[in-house]
Amino acid sequence: MKSNELILILDFGGQYNQLIARRVRECNVYSEVVPYHISIEKIKEKNPKGIIFTGGPASVYNEESPMCDKAIFELGIPILGICYGMQLMTHLLGGTVSKANKREYGATSVCITPSSPLFNGFQEINTFLMSHTDFVEKVPEGFSAIGNTDHCPIAAMQNENKKLYGIQFHPEVNLSENGTQVISNFLYQICGCKGDWKMSSFTKDSIVALREKIGDKKVLCALSGGVDSSVAAVLLHKAVGKNLTCIFLDHGLLRKNEGDEVENIFRNQFDINLIRVNVQDRFLSKLSGIIDPEQKRKIIGEEFIRVFEEEAKKIGAVDFLVQGTIYPDVIESGLGKGAVIKSHHNVGGLPDHVDFKEIVEPLRDLFKDEVRKVGLELGIPENLVFRQPFPGPGLAIRIIGDITEDKLNILKDADLIFREEVEKANLGKSINQYFAVLTNLKSVGVMGDERTYDYTVALRAVETTDFMTGVWSKIPYEVLEKVSSRIVNEVKHVNRVVYDITSKPPATIEWE
Ligand code: XMP
Repeated sequence: MKSNELILILDFGGQYNQLIARRVRECNVYSEVVPYHISIEKIKEKNPKGIIFTGGPASVYNEESPMCDKAIFELGIPILGICYGMQLMTHLLGGTVSKANKREYGATSVCITPSSPLFNGFQEINTFLMSHTDFVEKVPEGFSAIGNTDHCPIAAMQNENKKLYGIQFHPEVNLSENGTQVISNFLYQICGCKGDWKMSSFTKDSIVALREKIGDKKVLCALSGGVDSSVAAVLLHKAVGKNLTCIFLDHGLLRKNEGDEVENIFRNQFDINLIRVNVQDRFLSKLSGIIDPEQKRKIIGEEFIRVFEEEAKKIGAVDFLVQGTIYPDVIESGLGKGAVIKSHHNVGGLPDHVDFKEIVEPLRDLFKDEVRKVGLELGIPENLVFRQPFPGPGLAIRIIGDITEDKLNILKDADLIFREEVEKANLGKSINQYFAVLTNLKSVGVMGDERTYDYTVALRAVETTDFMTGVWSKIPYEVLEKVSSRIVNEVKHVNRVVYDITSKPPATIEWE
């Protein structure tokens, strides 16, 4: 259930926008990211306590740059402009933004005016992340400068009467010391928030709200065993019990033992109505001979929907279909999307022919770590709640080239060994995704006195927060050594193990 207090975050295309929303929520105030061109009527309708303009890569003098309606400043709602947001505020209100010769980038000493409500409780000198080329040279009428750096004469500004504030630095990133306090001051000292958004009440309130909404009607959920659909399913189960039916489709492309683990948790621990559909052979035959990664994705996505529809038909009409959509899936940037590198459809996308009246998306407002908190509150085991991301097409895109049952078994065994050793070495939390890949390469080896001609397994491990970029993980040699020796000894038909030391970009995380 939403709180009455809302902070609207206008998205001007900056890379930290979701982080701003997270920080606001950490301060117990509910926040939403919306496109920068949201209409004034819509803003009034949403009735926010405050508005934040994000940063962005554009320059206010470029005609195509994202701009908001100037009337926003007349609404009487406090506004905080961050980086580009500050420059835009300046530009629209008649101040001057100029281009510097040199970009100011990195953790920087900023001298601020502690008497400003935005800096309540701060010392004069603070370290914040600066990342800009343009800068505010002259503040608009009614504003005063409340911060500067060696290179930036106006690093912060305010119009206290109108409650309009601008900061050139990024308070939302960890590099900015006490950055969250700047955001908290904006929320509490300037917007007058009370702070009644709490995760613990979310779970309780959602169960009550779902129960009210659904009553004794029928609900259907496609369970993948991933974090989002698992949490959504358990939440629904707490609300409507046996009126929820989950379909868990085992396409044989899951990690070793995963199908049984999922079944065990949901059927035995939670006593959820679960239909497990074993369609390993059907998927294998559809994938037979397919080597193109995008074609694999397409076949798996389509087949998944087809099987789901067939099963749903057996159940008959339902009133609601559950989707595990989370907030980052729904944030719509005002700025469009970049090039498609891979079609990252989630297997289980919306089926066309399932007979249902309405979709319920109980996690639509939450970030991933918030979903995990709800999962723990619901009693879902930690190893599922903190499960690393697993692609919808599963192991199909970790076997280079065509897929056979033998290759799947080799990969499952090698992958399990890698995961066991990473977990034993306590590296599981610091590496965000780690798995084995079955390269299609065979090479010569020697085992005992025999020549072998067998597969090469590649190990992949990356550290990343957004999965858009990432670095390869520096796993200690001893751990790699153990993994390698166990794989070649325990997994038949593997005689060589290599470690992928490429970051993203230029490589991607998955090999296909
Ligand atoms: P890449 O390989 O593009 O992966 O660096 C980034 C993240 O996305 C996951 N991934 C997928 N997830 N369907 C999914 O649901 C897909 O087709 C897919 N391809 C990649 C990948 O595991 C990583 O977390």
